[in-house]
Amino acid sequence: MSQVQASAAAPQTAGKWKPEIIVFCCNYCAYAAADLAGARRMQYPPNVRVIHVPCTGKIEREHILASFEKGIDGVLVAGCLEGGCHFIEGNLRAKRRTEQLRDMLDEIGVGRERLRMVNLSAAMAPTFVQRVNEIVQTIEGLGPNPLRAHDAPA
Ligand code: FES
Repeated sequence: MSQVQASAAAPQTAGKWKPEIIVFCCNYCAYAAADLAGARRMQYPPNVRVIHVPCTGKIEREHILASFEKGIDGVLVAGCLEGGCHFIEGNLRAKRRTEQLRDMLDEIGVGRERLRMVNLSAAMAPTFVQRVNEIVQTIEGLGPNPLRAHDAPA
């Protein structure tokens, strides 16, 4: 996995919590949409990191759970449109995993709303930005990842 710099990179504002979001983008359509958003200078909130993966089907449960364990506040899985995965069914596997993990996040008190998936074509830069903004707004409403709160100094 490689990390790319999106147009949203900005330092955390001192003293004011901002959600930290990871967007796992598949190498094909989703990454192209994110790249197009950057090329068009479309804006989305700071502290959103885009992680480049070969296909959403290659994102293991452990990758997502490790993100939450490290205090990431929200995770967006971005892949190709259904029927458009370059590895045939990778995005369908990712969809099943995401739903299972959403249930698990509810069970452990983190909350399912902190994890979402979106399917994109390479031309869907506006949708990419919209989905990123939506999850950021949701997480701002929910507050920090409860696992992070446990790590916070008293
Ligand atoms: Fe895009 Fe599989 S290559 S989701």
